[in-house]
Amino acid sequence: MRTEILPLSDPTAEPRAEALLKAGALVALPTETVYGLAGDSGSGDAVAGIFAAKGRPRFNPLICHVASLSMGRSIATFDDVALQLARHFWPGPLTLVLPLAADAAIHPLATAGLPTVAVRMPRGVVARLAGRLGRPIVAPSANLSGRVTGTSADAVARGLGGRIPLILDDGPSKVGVESTIIRPDGDRLLLLRAGGVGREEIAAASGLPIETPASGAPIAAPGGLASHYAPAGQIRLDAQTIESGEFVIAFGSDTPRGLERAAAVVNLSPSGDLTEAAANLFAALAAFDRPQIQRIAVTPIPRTGLGEAINDRLTRAAAPR
Ligand code: TXA
Ligand code: MG
Repeated sequence: MRTEILPLSDPTAEPRAEALLKAGALVALPTETVYGLAGDSGSGDAVAGIFAAKGRPRFNPLICHVASLSMGRSIATFDDVALQLARHFWPGPLTLVLPLAADAAIHPLATAGLPTVAVRMPRGVVARLAGRLGRPIVAPSANLSGRVTGTSADAVARGLGGRIPLILDDGPSKVGVESTIIRPDGDRLLLLRAGGVGREEIAAASGLPIETPASGAPIAAPGGLASHYAPAGQIRLDAQTIESGEFVIAFGSDTPRGLERAAAVVNLSPSGDLTEAAANLFAALAAFDRPQIQRIAVTPIPRTGLGEAINDRLTRAAAPR
């Protein structure tokens, strides 16, 4: 299959995407977090096609992207806390895991048969297309399963080119890491995945404590595999001293010892800005995802705000596999 890349600004881009989605085909689309591999949530062919195109080993549940809060309420039950969070953070990089509504018009493969559903209202083209479809759009990150997440049309094309008909190009992703996933649970919030909204912001908006379920707990996001986002080489985290020949992902203005021995260095944010670092993270991993690059060292990155999501992704990318 030939994969066409169209700029989002091309007047034919959205109508083409809409026609493909209505025909049950898949389209890679930009969201503010990362590029998504989008399909009609009501079409079993589309949902199964997403797993096939990504080479996903299992039927992980997918996020349903909605055009509005009312479309969200047609597929999920929002309690007061969920409503407050949606009103505060949507459209934006927050996903809520909520009880699936009994009459939700989405294919059971989209939720992997779970009694809950992950719902998010993104900014921009995906929400507009969900509106025209009249149904949520399911979209995992647009990369091959387990590999570096696509944050540009080129990165998406490297992974999924030849497998999908169309990629809409809106330049590099603004946020650069996936959405934060929250599951409201009584008087607390469970953080299933750190992401584009920092936990401090969510705690401030809700006034509720945020807990992180133990990894491997059944409640944790089923997609939270230990090894994920991985480039070909081995990754060493919190590197204070650089060893000879390492490819270095740096952060901030501190120079680690031995940096002159590095084969190459990319700095996620020379000024030490975690938002900028998040936006650059997957492009840096992709730049070092080459068969001849064996060893990647990452200098320490603070764990506050977006730093939690950045460190989570790097820890998974570094996990044994
Ligand atoms: O920013 C994002 O969230 C991107 C863009 C494209 O929207 N999407 C994304 O989707 O990251 P994906 O499929 O790569 O990750 C979705 C995560 C998975 O870890 C999955 O297990 C979890 O959401 N998830 C989905 N439904 C769930 C549910 N009912 N309960 C718990 N976790 C769920
Ligand atoms: Mg993903």
